[in-house]
Amino acid sequence: METLSIISTTLATFAMLLIVAGLIFARNKKKHIPLMMAAFACDIAGLIVIEVVARIIGETSPVDSLATDPDVMKSVHAAFATASLICYGFQINSGRKIVAGERTRLPTHKLVAKIFILTRLGAYVTMFLF
Ligand code: HEM
Repeated sequence: METLSIISTTLATFAMLLIVAGLIFARNKKKHIPLMMAAFACDIAGLIVIEVVARIIGETSPVDSLATDPDVMKSVHAAFATASLICYGFQINSGRKIVAGERTRLPTHKLVAKIFILTRLGAYVTMFLF
């Protein structure tokens, strides 16, 4: 296994563990928010490693050529990963508004959380399938 793959797999595993912990503490703002932001940081770091560092040092093939790549799992992975990044954006936005006192945002935050869990899990599993 290439070094960059090991680093990105480790970061993704850390992110998953932080998400599980963040969900366990979903009703405790002091723990929930830092845990979810740490998971986001791990995922952004993983994305940079696999998409930017890999291109610079040319060690591995990044997830690209999506439309034409014969490896369908790569496309499925990229779709899940993109969807989960979009969910992070929604969660950070609605989470900040809940913190500011807009409790009416909580049902949407919980709904997007379900979509996030499915997409993030999908991205994690498909990481190992191509
Ligand atoms: C992908 C990341 C996230 C997921 C999956 C997620 C998920 C959840 C879930 C499921 C709850 C429901 C708790 C309940 O049952 O009442 C919750 C609550 C909450 N989340 Fe998040 N969240 C995420 C990120 C964030 C972020 C980044 C913030 C803040 C910037 C945030 C702020 C909050 C707040 C303030 C609550 C309410 C806590 C309370 O009950 O007082 N969340 N979150």
